[in-house]
Amino acid sequence: MIRILFVCLGNICRSPMAEAVLRDKIIKAGAGDRIVVDSAGTGNWHMGSIPHPGTRKILSREGISFAKIRARQVIPEDFQRFDRIIAMDRSNERDLYRLAAPSERDGQKIFRFMRLLDDRPSADVPDPYYTGRFDEVFRLVDRGTDVLLRQLLR
Ligand code: 4NP
Repeated sequence: MIRILFVCLGNICRSPMAEAVLRDKIIKAGAGDRIVVDSAGTGNWHMGSIPHPGTRKILSREGISFAKIRARQVIPEDFQRFDRIIAMDRSNERDLYRLAAPSERDGQKIFRFMRLLDDRPSADVPDPYYTGRFDEVFRLVDRGTDVLLRQLLR
């Protein structure tokens, strides 16, 4: 079993979108019994919340389920439980390194989402909580999860 965790700040916009999109692709690829996906936030403000309306709107448009997704905060056990912990931006990555025990600070395990894209337009997946640009996030998430899924299925 391979376990993937996406991490952003609030766990209501970017990381739940990445979780829903990757899970949908995994199921369509018939790999649902081999790869597990989850998401979490470094902050605790939205614990228990369903995804942001902007994320829900995009996922609904794409026909992707988000029914079971609720926001939660990163916990210390996540660093042992997950094989890859993927930060949506540089500040999330910094926070994850701070939260991880020294032995868990491994660039193969903890890395930024945009490292998946060779022709990345920026270092970060921009935060749509502030920009309102959920479409832009979806395009990046869609491309990045394609690359990630190909790696996982190899
Ligand atoms: P996310 O966006 O990290 O992509 O879920 C945010 C959601 C909430 C907040 C910040 C970013 N907030 O400050 O509450």
